[in-house]
Amino acid sequence: MADRAAKLTFDGKDLELPILEPTEGPNCLDIRKLYAQGHVFTYDPGFTSTASCDSTITFIDGDRGELWYRGYPIEQLAEKSHYLEVCYLLLYGELPNPTQMQDFENRVTRHTMVHEQMHYFFRGFRRDSHPMATMVGVVGAMSAFYHDSTDINDPVQREIASIRLIAKMPTVAAMAYKYSIGQPFVYPRNDLDYAANFLHMCFSVPAEKYDVNPALAKAMDRIFTLHADHEQNASTSTVRLAGSSGANPFACIAAGIACLWGPAHGGANQAALEMLQQIGSVDNIPEYIRRAKDKDDPFRLMGFGHRVYKNFDPRAKVMKESADEVLDLLGIENNETLKVAKELERIALEDEYFVDKKLYPNVDFYSGIILSAMGFPTAMFTPIFALSRTVGWIAQWKEMIGDPQNKIGRPRQLYIGADRRDYQDVSAR
Ligand code: CMC
Repeated sequence: MADRAAKLTFDGKDLELPILEPTEGPNCLDIRKLYAQGHVFTYDPGFTSTASCDSTITFIDGDRGELWYRGYPIEQLAEKSHYLEVCYLLLYGELPNPTQMQDFENRVTRHTMVHEQMHYFFRGFRRDSHPMATMVGVVGAMSAFYHDSTDINDPVQREIASIRLIAKMPTVAAMAYKYSIGQPFVYPRNDLDYAANFLHMCFSVPAEKYDVNPALAKAMDRIFTLHADHEQNASTSTVRLAGSSGANPFACIAAGIACLWGPAHGGANQAALEMLQQIGSVDNIPEYIRRAKDKDDPFRLMGFGHRVYKNFDPRAKVMKESADEVLDLLGIENNETLKVAKELERIALEDEYFVDKKLYPNVDFYSGIILSAMGFPTAMFTPIFALSRTVGWIAQWKEMIGDPQNKIGRPRQLYIGADRRDYQDVSAR
């Protein structure tokens, strides 16, 4: 119950809007009774000032540039934890003890293979399909392959579906990649950890021995961790909205993947690297900065700006350090793309336009450089984001389904179309 209320006066009515106080972040005005009591809606396209739910999972302070999973700062988790531990934390709310960790790892590991018949499903796609297109289709189809875990009212089935999605998503992403380059699918290896297994499924071939470089597996694991959740972003809100109707978890996650694909969201990592490659050399940067500032030019600096972060994106800081480490490890010196990225960042951070609008590099600015150095083509960047974010989508979906106050999501609108009019027969038009 809220102790305080805001007063809203309009059209001769006085309404009281309870003020809800969060653990951290701005207070929220509770407008749930606004329509019933005042017969008005609120208007907020793009949800710039609207909290769509309450949540205990992730917190972002955009002004201070902070991101916490269940209260733990992302920098600490990126340095000291690992992805499966972070998955446990996001799903169950606390860091696991050694027995819980072992049990969780066993459960995820036992579900890494996909139904053998799914291989035929993949073969229905064109070879040149974007791996995100394949993933949307295949993950949606998982509800046909795993219908014994689609009853959302059964907590046991919800749990099995969650584990299946986290375990199988790297397999599905790796298969989408292998299919696109015409190589045989590689089965998961359960003796490898989550990130190493993903690299193995992407880069090994049956004809040769492949040893996963542990340092690269660590960098991959960190990329997964940095992308694991990000509160009510567009794809997570899509998953929640799809789930609010009672749709099964595989269908909801497929909806999330579709939303993530857009260049304003997860597709920005592919777009950012392609932009850096297009810029090509530091000499060309001023021209691109000029275009980004030109109101008549649709060009934007990809990997820059964020709806919530108006200070640095804390994930970008860690990612930048990781990019240096990985390039160093692989002996890639004088990488032109990294040089362009660093110089572009330097110039943009001093430029009045970017400073005034608080546009800073986001997580997608440096991730592509690392992934590309590891050997991934740009089309795989967003699938990797999708597999990392799956746990966040699931944690948010489970939180919503488990909430007794859960209602179907149904926004209202400000109708600005034609007034009522009568149909005229075609001969009279
Ligand atoms: N380059 C140049 N100008 C920009 C950029 C940019 N990257 N981003 C925003 N602006 C300008 C924009 O033109 C607008 O100017 P004005 O106020 O004069 O009209 C102002 O900054 C505010 O932009 P907005 O589009 O109203 O802000 P938003 O909160 O709706 O959009 C964003 C946030 C991330 C979609 C946007 O910054 C963008 O398109 N960035 C490039 C794409 C990108 O990197 N996306 C990844 C986001 S982080 C990972 C993820 O969420 O998946």
